Amino acid sequence: MKKKTYNIVTFGCQMNERDSETLAGFLEDLGFTYEEEKLDAQVVVLNTCSVRENADKRFFGVLGQLKHSHEENPGKLVILCGCMMQQQHIIDAVKQKYPWVDLVFGTHNIADFPKLFDNVYKNHERIIDIKDATKEIAENLPAKRMYDFKAYVSIMQGCNNFCTYCIVPYTRGREMSRKPEDILRECSCLAENGCKEIMLLGQNVNSYAGGMTFAELLREIDKIEGLERIRFMTSHPKDLSDDLIDCFRTCRHLCHCFHLPVQSGSDAVLKKMNRHYDRAHYLERVEKLREACPDIALTTDIIVGFPGETEEDFEDTIDLVKRVRYDSAFTFIYSVREGTPAAKWEDQVPEEIKHERFNRLIDVIHDIQAEKMSELQDQILPVLIEGPSKTDDKMLTGRTESLKTVDLPGDPALIGRIVPVKIVKAQTFSLYGELV
Ligand code: 5AD
Ligand code: SF4
Repeated sequence: MKKKTYNIVTFGCQMNERDSETLAGFLEDLGFTYEEEKLDAQVVVLNTCSVRENADKRFFGVLGQLKHSHEENPGKLVILCGCMMQQQHIIDAVKQKYPWVDLVFGTHNIADFPKLFDNVYKNHERIIDIKDATKEIAENLPAKRMYDFKAYVSIMQGCNNFCTYCIVPYTRGREMSRKPEDILRECSCLAENGCKEIMLLGQNVNSYAGGMTFAELLREIDKIEGLERIRFMTSHPKDLSDDLIDCFRTCRHLCHCFHLPVQSGSDAVLKKMNRHYDRAHYLERVEKLREACPDIALTTDIIVGFPGETEEDFEDTIDLVKRVRYDSAFTFIYSVREGTPAAKWEDQVPEEIKHERFNRLIDVIHDIQAEKMSELQDQILPVLIEGPSKTDDKMLTGRTESLKTVDLPGDPALIGRIVPVKIVKAQTFSLYGELV
C-alpha cells in the first residue's frame, strides 16, 4: 500500500463524476496523490449509483474485492458515498456485512468531507453520517478536474419529478438551483484557464430556477470569451420551452445536439410513469427543435418492460423511435427500485419478455444509427481532440459537436484543440478520420 495515495471509483452518471472531482480536490488539498490501482491506494472512495440494479451489484463486487486489501493493510481506508448510501436498506447491509468500512456519507454532506475524513484518518473513528437534505448548495469547494479542456459544471441538484420508476428524487432530494453569478464565475474561470467545452449538469436543467430561466442562463454563458462548445443534460420534455429551442438559433456556442429522454412511446405507459407529457407533445417538441436547428443530433433514454407494458405499448415505442430517428439511444431494461411506486405494482413484465423487447428495440435503434453514421462519410467536422484512442494508443480520439467519437492518426500535441477532421470511415459505433 502506498502512503498518502487515493483512488476513487465512480459509478453512474455525470453528476457523480462531478462529485468525485470535488472529493479528489479535497484529498489533493490534504496532500494525497492519485494512485491508479485501487488495491494499492491508501484511501479508496466508492461513489455509488442506485439508478438500476446492475450498478448496485457492481458496487458490492468492488467492495468485496477491497475486503482483503483492507485486512492486509492496517491504515487503509475504505470510504463509501453517493446515491446508494441514501437508502436505509443499503446502510443496514453495509453495517451488517461490511462492518470494516471506515467512513460512509451521503449525497447531502459532501461539503463535510474534510471534517469527516479528519476524524477517520487521525482519530481512527468509524463514521456513518447520512443527512436527509441540504439547506443550500455549497459553493467554492475544491475540484481536481479530469480534463483541462472540457469540464462539467453543475447548475442544480436534485429532482422534483418523481417518475414512478426512479430512485433519484429519494437519493438526491428536492431541486435546488445554483445562483447564476456562481455558475457564470465558474464558467469564466474555466475559460480563462483554457477550457473549451462545458457540459452543464442537472437532473432536469429545463426547470432551472436560480433567478433566471435556463434559456437566459445559456445566453449569458454563450457570451463568455474562450468557450467554444456548450452542452447540457438532462432535459425533461415537459419543461422544454420555446425559448430554450430558440437558443439553438441564437447561441453561437451551443452544440447542435440534444439529449431528450422519452422513456416510452406509449401514452398509457408515459402516464403510469408520471412523465406529464404524451407522445404527441414529445413529437411536437422534436419537430420544433428540428425547425430551429435542422442538423441537430437527437439522443434519448428508453425503458423497456415497465410494469404493465403490453406488446402494443412496446410497438408504440418502436414507432416513435422510427419517427424521431435518433442518432443514438440509451436503452434500459426496467429495474425494480425499492422505495419507488412502480416497485410495488403487480403487473411486472416477465424477464424473458423484457429481454426479447430490449433486443428488438436495439436492432431498430442500431439500424437507424448506422444510417445516420454513414451520412457523415467524407464530411469535414470540427473535432475536439481528447487523448489517445482507447482501442489503439498510437491513434488519437476526439468528439464531434454531436458527441460522436472519432479516432484519427495525429500528434498528441493536438490534445485539447478543436481541429477539422475528414471522416474516412463511418461504422455504426465508430468513426475514423484524418486531419485536413
Ligand atoms: N429502471 C430502468 N431504467 C431506469 N432509469 C431510471 N430509473 C430506471 C429504472 N428503475 C433510466 C431512465 C433515465 C436514465 C438515467 O436511467 O431512462 O433517463
Ligand atoms: Fe428520475 Fe424522472 Fe427525475 Fe429524471 S426526471 S431523475 S427519470 S425522477
